[in-house]
Amino acid sequence: MTKIKCVIAAGGLGTRLQGFRKNQKTKVLLEVNGMPMINRQIHQINQWGIRDFIIITSPDFDVFIRETTSKEFPNLNIHYSVQESPEGIAHAFSKAESFVKKDDILLLVLGDNFFGENPIKHIDFVNFEKNKGSIIFTKAVDNPSEFGVALVDEYGKVKHIEEKPEKPNSDLAVVGVYIFDYLAMDYIKLLKPSKRGEYEITDLINIYITQSICSNIQLLDWWIDAGTPERILELENKLS
Ligand code: DAU
Repeated sequence: MTKIKCVIAAGGLGTRLQGFRKNQKTKVLLEVNGMPMINRQIHQINQWGIRDFIIITSPDFDVFIRETTSKEFPNLNIHYSVQESPEGIAHAFSKAESFVKKDDILLLVLGDNFFGENPIKHIDFVNFEKNKGSIIFTKAVDNPSEFGVALVDEYGKVKHIEEKPEKPNSDLAVVGVYIFDYLAMDYIKLLKPSKRGEYEITDLINIYITQSICSNIQLLDWWIDAGTPERILELENKLS
C-alpha cells in the first residue's frame, strides 16, 4: 500500500541562530513559545494527517532530538537517520533512503518552515501516485533572492528553479515543503555539489522540471522560514 512518508530535514548547524537566547544547540531544538521547534514541526505535520516520519539529524544533536521527539510523540511512527556532515538539503534527504519503499510518496519538510495553512490539503494523492513526479509550493515575496525562486507557467507547471539568485526572474519563493515520488532517491545520486559545495534541493527539482513533471501550488496564507532571530520572533507572534 502506498504511504506518505514525511522526511524532516533537521540536520545542519543553524549558524544564523547560534547565541540567540544563549542558544548553543542546533536550530530545531530552540524553544518556540516554550516548545522545541522540532516538536512544533511534528505537531504541525501531524495536523496535516501524517503519521510516518523520518527525521534527519546532525551527529552532535541526534541523541537530544531522539529524546525530545520520542517523549512527546510515543504514538507516532518515527525513524531517525544521521547526516554526518551538512552537505546540503538534497544530501540530508538522501539519508532517508533505507526507510523508503518503492511507491512511497515522499513529503520533505525543512525543520524550520512553518505555515498558516495546510499546504497539502488539496492534493489528490491517488492521482499523484498514478502519475508520479514532484510538487513544489511557492509564496509571492518581496525578497525572493533569499530563497529558491521558481518560474511557473500559466498552467502551474514549473519551468525553472534557481537557488538564491542575485537577479530573480519571479517573486515566487520556493517554500520548505516538497512532494516527490520515490525515484527522488535515485535522482539524488546524479547530483553534483553546487558552487557553494552543497547538494542543492533545487538541483533535484530541476531533474523533474526537465521531464515536465513538476507542478506548483501557490500558498496564500503566511509562511515563515524561522532561520533567523527576527523570523523566530515573527513565528512566535503568529502562533500566540
Ligand atoms: O525556507 C525555504 C528555503 O530553504 C528554500 O527557498 C531554499 O531553496 C532552500 O535551499 C532552503 O534555504 P535555507 O538557506 O533556508 O536552508 P537552510 O540551510 O536554513 O536549511 C533548511 C533546513 O534544512 C534546516 O532546518 C536545516 C536542514 N538542513 C540543511 C542543510 C544545509 C539539513 O538537514 N542538512 C543540511 O545539510
